Amino acid sequence: MTNTASEMEAGPVQVRGTVLTVRRVDAYYAMTVVAPGVAARFRPGQFVAVAVGGPDSSMLLRRAFSIHDVRPDHGGTVEFVFAARGRGTRWLAGCRARDVLDVTGPLGRPFPVPRHPASCLLIGGGYGSAPLFSLAGRLRERRCSVDFLLGAATGDRVFGALTARRTGRTAMITTEDGSLGTRGIVTDVLSQVIHEARTDVIYACGPMPMLRQVTALAGGYDIPVQALVEESMACGIGVCMTCVLPVAGSDGITRMVRSCVDGPVFRGDQVRWDDIGTIPFDAFGAPGWEPRSQHRAGMAGAAATGAGQAAGNGTGAASANGPVPGSSAGSGRSGPGEAAQRRSPGAGHGD
Ligand SMILES: Cc1cc2nc3c(=O)[nH]c(=O)nc-3n(C[C@H](O)[C@H](O)[C@H](O)COP(=O)(O)OP(=O)(O)OC[C@H]3O[C@@H](n4cnc5c(N)ncnc54)[C@H](O)[C@@H]3O)c2cc1C
Ligand code: FES
Repeated sequence: MTNTASEMEAGPVQVRGTVLTVRRVDAYYAMTVVAPGVAARFRPGQFVAVAVGGPDSSMLLRRAFSIHDVRPDHGGTVEFVFAARGRGTRWLAGCRARDVLDVTGPLGRPFPVPRHPASCLLIGGGYGSAPLFSLAGRLRERRCSVDFLLGAATGDRVFGALTARRTGRTAMITTEDGSLGTRGIVTDVLSQVIHEARTDVIYACGPMPMLRQVTALAGGYDIPVQALVEESMACGIGVCMTCVLPVAGSDGITRMVRSCVDGPVFRGDQVRWDDIGTIPFDAFGAPGWEPRSQHRAGMAGAAATGAGQAAGNGTGAASANGPVPGSSAGSGRSGPGEAAQRRSPGAGHGD
């Protein structure tokens, strides 16, 4: 799997772009905005952070949306798909052509793609399938085969079913109410799809529970998963630590990493899904955490000098703890460590 240096070097830009279209697509809205610099830098899996509410709004936080598509028209346009759920997205749904939006992007690390032709299964839950179609195009350029597995609660919440059927080698759809495709959820049919498609690698975007289950099932077949997670974000640029989640690095150490800059794409088997929303006790920088080498040294010292000394070592080790997540040193350590996670193939949402 590769992310070239030029991909990583092309940083985000902030643009004031004109809205070209806002259209209903079943349960969602698709918005196209003129944003030349964003379109030119985009790689599948990246997202935009959009200012909402207008210049006098109290809604200070930008809203993050996966980029669905970019086109060269008007110097470069960006399309994203969203569900109108809270104040910000309802405001966006009310925008019209010729309105001007402040957009920052592309943000985050893109999906890594295989070096060699591979059988790729793209799994999307709800609007989580939106970023998968540009990925499919890129995979085909690499002579990879692309199969789709899309699911949602109801048929109108499956985004892109027609495109998946038209462009995928195969496309399986599931809905919980049975209104489209097979009744059930994507993981009900995942084993069957993996067998039939002879899947080498899975890319997934959808709700956290879906990502967790996909990763667990794929692990049974030794299939790597690249998961695009939609962890709540505030700044979107790596400063505030709102978006951290526990991820185990190749060195076995769990770090609280920022999904906005270290993700949003992670290797599924390295995300500690059950611990999301917490700081696990064994995470780097967690209260009581100590480096393994120091821990071993402490134990050896305790064995040599007796119980009284052991208590002393314990105190010393506590003061030598790494920084807690949120401190600048903590974020500095977590970023580079996680860069190593994307060495192998492996893929994230919706409703
Ligand atoms: C990388 C990424 C990609 C995303 N892609 C899409 C997409 O393609 N389509 C789409 O509809 N939504 C997407 N989301 C979720 C989207 O950002 C939230 O739905 C949106 O922020 C909600 O804003 P609101 O004002 O309507 O809701 P409110 O609940 O009023 O939002 C208040 C704040 O809560 C946070 N928030 C609330 N819900 C979420 C959520 N589910 N995920 C992350 N932050 C949340 C936001 O930071 C927001 O600033 C994505 C999120 C991330 C992190
Ligand atoms: S959203 Fe602020 S660090 Fe990720």
